[in-house]
Amino acid sequence: MNASLIDLVKGMPKAELHIHIEGSLEPELIFKLAERNQVKLAYPSVEALRAAYAFTDLQSFLDIYYAGASVLLQEQDFFDMTWAYLLRAKADNVRHVEMFFDPQTHTARGVPLAAVFGGIDRALQQARTELGISSALIMCFLRHLSEKEAFEVLEQALPYCDKIIGVGLDSSERGHPPEKFEHVFARCRELGLRLVAHAGEEGPPAYISAALDLLHVERIDHGVRCLEDPALVQRLVRDKIPLTVCPLSNIKLCVFGQMSDHNLPALLNAGLKAMINSDDPAYFGGYMNDNFVACFSALPLGREHALQLARNSFEAAFLDAPQKQRYVDEVETYFKNH
Ligand code: ADE
Ligand code: ZN
Repeated sequence: MNASLIDLVKGMPKAELHIHIEGSLEPELIFKLAERNQVKLAYPSVEALRAAYAFTDLQSFLDIYYAGASVLLQEQDFFDMTWAYLLRAKADNVRHVEMFFDPQTHTARGVPLAAVFGGIDRALQQARTELGISSALIMCFLRHLSEKEAFEVLEQALPYCDKIIGVGLDSSERGHPPEKFEHVFARCRELGLRLVAHAGEEGPPAYISAALDLLHVERIDHGVRCLEDPALVQRLVRDKIPLTVCPLSNIKLCVFGQMSDHNLPALLNAGLKAMINSDDPAYFGGYMNDNFVACFSALPLGREHALQLARNSFEAAFLDAPQKQRYVDEVETYFKNH
């Protein structure tokens, strides 16, 4: 392992564009919130819960992830979860975050959207002033539920629309293609929201094409299976469609056997606008810098790739042009000095 390269990637300014905030709930906080809210958990201890984090695919993870989120009831719970993540992001030199949350996971348990939006937004505001981290919030629809239910949660979220920059699509991918959500995404587009979707994580490259053609998304979350379709790769390169890649997630969910098998170098070398993200860091073995260290230790990646990853992360963000330029300048200054 090249120690100076590892130090370089740890210290460089970066943006995280693919983090499910419910996936940052560490077992210790799950137990603390369960006690505070009198929620009964299926596991007797923090250790027993952590030991259950042996996933075979996306669904085996989602079952535990939704159970973990059941401890979130009050505004303060959403604040505590989000603030804990932001402190970790700060330690990893994350300068800008675009954060997913799953409102339907909470409304299904009777939690008011006011508590969800209130707690997350309060933490993001505090991070702007106290940690110097800029941010935006992306509301995800759960694709294992119906489009009708997506419309219902969108309607309930309208009073909070100023708090979100866009919408996304997550949860069980296989069997739930993008076309299932064509109408609700069209409505979100009319509302002026930015659009992203998970595609090509477990699902085929055709789901990536459908997300672009039918949902009109601007970024693809994951997208690693695009390499199976050379014409699609050409299109993604030509149209500069960002791919929010999550390496440790892909290993934990068995998309790739081990990190040395990951296709991140191939994605970057093909000219794709990929960057590194943590997805669900409490479940997948780490936050941003854990992902960077795992990738740069196991894969043929060098200084040029590091610069590309940092630059891509800001260029792919939903920031206005001057803000983007300020962050890209910050990256370039960092590389001049290190
Ligand atoms: N929800 C949280 N993490 C997810 C992932 N990696 N894929 C799909 N849905 C998710
Ligand atoms: Zn994800």
